[in-house]
This record gives sequence, structure tokens and C-alpha cells, in this order.
Amino acid sequence: MTATAVYYDPYDVDIVADPYPTYARLREEAPIYYNERYDFWALSRHADVEKALSNWETFSNSRSDILELVKSDFDMPKGVMMFEDPPVHTMLRGLMSRVFTPRRMAEIEDQIRAYCVACLDPWVGSDGFDIIAELASMMPMRVIGMLLGIPESEQISVRDANDANLRTRPGAPMKVVQADKIADGRIYADYVEWRSKNPSDDLMTALLNVEFEDEQGVTRKLTRKEVLHYTQVVAGAGNETTGRLIGWLAKVLAEHPDQRREVYEDRSLLTRTVDETLRFEPTGPHVARWMAKDFECYETTVPAGSAMLLLFGAANRDPRRYTDPDRFDIHRDNISHLTFGKGLHYCLGANLARLEGRVALDELLNRFPEWDIDYDTAQLAPTSTVRGWERLRLVLP
Ligand code: HEM
Repeated sequence: MTATAVYYDPYDVDIVADPYPTYARLREEAPIYYNERYDFWALSRHADVEKALSNWETFSNSRSDILELVKSDFDMPKGVMMFEDPPVHTMLRGLMSRVFTPRRMAEIEDQIRAYCVACLDPWVGSDGFDIIAELASMMPMRVIGMLLGIPESEQISVRDANDANLRTRPGAPMKVVQADKIADGRIYADYVEWRSKNPSDDLMTALLNVEFEDEQGVTRKLTRKEVLHYTQVVAGAGNETTGRLIGWLAKVLAEHPDQRREVYEDRSLLTRTVDETLRFEPTGPHVARWMAKDFECYETTVPAGSAMLLLFGAANRDPRRYTDPDRFDIHRDNISHLTFGKGLHYCLGANLARLEGRVALDELLNRFPEWDIDYDTAQLAPTSTVRGWERLRLVLP
């Protein structure tokens, strides 16, 4: 490797601050990239990432989709949808889709809107507020709470316990202390116990009661342990990713005031705006895979057993796929992106995340048609799996 060869790792604070020049170099100079320091590979071109997502026989989720976990020696907990390949994954996903329906999500839209209104109303007439502290860090957990039926008093502690599991020290990989802690859902145990005695019309009650045919062909309900796994998967997957989306919407639209004004005038543009923001600044900039087989590309063999990163952030701005990819453009033709993944693990909460982004932006614009960013106090969150703002103060005129 020469001194000028492109370097990338997801822990480098300077790269993470603005990864796009590095992504561009990876796509052009090292479409299959190997990082010696942390021993992982990376694919960055849209076509390659897209193909990898559907090739689960080689790009396996069986050691999770988080780099640090793929590289750790821990036994993966069983029954976590994101950490399984077919056929177990197919069974788990079928089960989850049965309780995770569009109807259930549509039913909570009014509650989501009421929550946004209550968070934003107090700031009308002020000179500004931190949108992360006041809305984005709380809202997705509340929404998952609405889906699951978690009482409000439990929701803040659950969110903090969950985010703490994903925290990294700036510049360093996330420490895998106990892989189980990330995936077994123990932080929900009291709630699940309580809900089993107090059934209602929520996702948790549905999960506790759903009957299905398992791998052995036995018709049964989920065990309490399995219910906890499921809860953790939904809450872990939908919390920080969606919170960061709300931060990016505020940041990107502050920097594109003409497009913000257009959306203000015409709310039918809200959904496109959310999707273009997801393409432009994906909150989950990559997923990891464990290579179940040797893989050949660009005259290189990636050996079985390696860790692979699929760089959504790079793929979403590949000029082979998008015209003028570094331009934020809500009128772009066919806004499709890889931010929710693709294929068999495609994000189950994609429509819920879109709904949250749309409603949050709609209510923000209703109160604050114009805003700016206080760059002096803005701060990126130190995680290697999610990229977004931890502090983002909006300055109001
Ligand atoms: C902007 C917000 C979100 C982003 C960027 C995002 C991203 C993703 C991605 C990339 C995957 C695929 C992972 C892989 O291929 O290994 C995924 C899967 C998943 N997501 Fe999301 N997600 C978001 C919001 C949500 C929400 C709100 C929920 C639920 C409340 C959710 C639930 C899930 C679940 C259950 C899976 C696992 C699907 C499977 O393995 O079959 N996500 N998400």
C-alpha cells in the first residue's frame, strides 16, 4: 500500500465528519477495499452493494450486521431476525410481519403527530432550540412505545439503556462486552411480564399471543425469551436510526432553504424530501456481513470468514447510479436508495420511519418556516453504526 492509498475506517472521527470524499475515492480507487488495521473489507459501488444484499449465501447475517459483532468471538444469540439467514430468518420475519402491519402503523399516526405538537409548541416565539434534545432523541422511542404499548414512565430508561449499548468512544470500535446484552432484550423484561398480565391492543400483546409453526413443525407461542429478543430487535433497530433522520432533515433543509420553502408551500413533497434526505445522509451509513464463502471481485479473493462492510453512504452517491449524486434534490427522478437495505432483510420499519420523518417535518414547518443551524454547538454522535447529530440547535429568526 502506498502512502497516498485511500484509507477508510468507520471510527476515524475526521472521516466520519465528512465521509463523502473518502467514499468517492473508495468507489474509484478501491472498489473492493481491505482495512489492515481493523481487518475488514468494504464494497462501495451501488451495483456491488445491491448485489451483495441479495447474495445471502455468501454475505451472511449469521454473525449479525454490526462490524464489531461480526469480528467478535461471541456466540450469537439465536432467534434475532437480523442475525439469521434463511430458513430461520424467513420464519422469524413472517412472524414479525404478521404483527407489524401497515394498519397498526397507520393507527398511531395521530398519536405521533400529537407528540410532535407537544414537543414543538413550547418553542414558538423563542430564538431557537436543540431539535435532538427536544424532539429527535425522544420521538422514535415513544413511537415504538406506542406500537409495543410500553407505559410512558418506562420509555426514557429503556431508550437510555439501549443507546448506551451502541455507544463508542470517539475514534475507537464499539466494545463488545457481552453480545447478549445487545440482543436479548432483558431491559424489557419487567414490562413484558406486566403486559402479559395486562393485555391490550398493542404489538406486545400480539407477540405474546401469536401462534406459529416452528422449525420442528410444532404449533406454539413464542417463549418469553423469544418475545424479549423480538422487542429488542424492534426497539434497537428503530430508535437511534430514526432519531438521527429527524436531525438530518433539519440540517439538510437549513442548508437548502429554497427547497425547504417549496416543501413549506407544497406538503405533497414531504415524502420525497424524507427519501432524498435518507439517500443523501443515510443514518445507518453501512451494514456488516460475515463472508460464508470465498468471494471473487476486481481480481481479488475475499476469503470465507472475513468481515465485510457494505457502504450504503458510498453507494447512495455513486455517479454510476445517480445523476449529480452530491446534489440534494427533492425533485430527483426515481429517488431510491439503499438506506433501508434491500432483499430479505429490508427494513421492516421503513414505512414507520418515513411516517415519523414526514410528520415531524410537517409539524416543524407548521411552526417554523425558516431556521438556521448553530454550527458552534452542533455535535455528531459517537457511534460507529449510526451517523447523525447528538446536538443540533436550530436558530429561529
Ligand atoms: C431511518 C430509520 C431507519 C433506518 C435507516 C433503518 C435501516 C435498516 C436497515 C439498513 C436494515 C437492514 C439490515 C441488514 O440488512 O442487515 C433494517 C432492518 C430492520 N429494521 Fe430498520 N431502519 C430504520 C427504522 C426502523 C424502524 C422505525 C423500525 C421499527 C420500529 C425498524 C425495524 C427494523 C427491523 C425489525 C429490521 C430487521 C429486518 C430483517 O432482518 O429482516 N427499522 N433497518
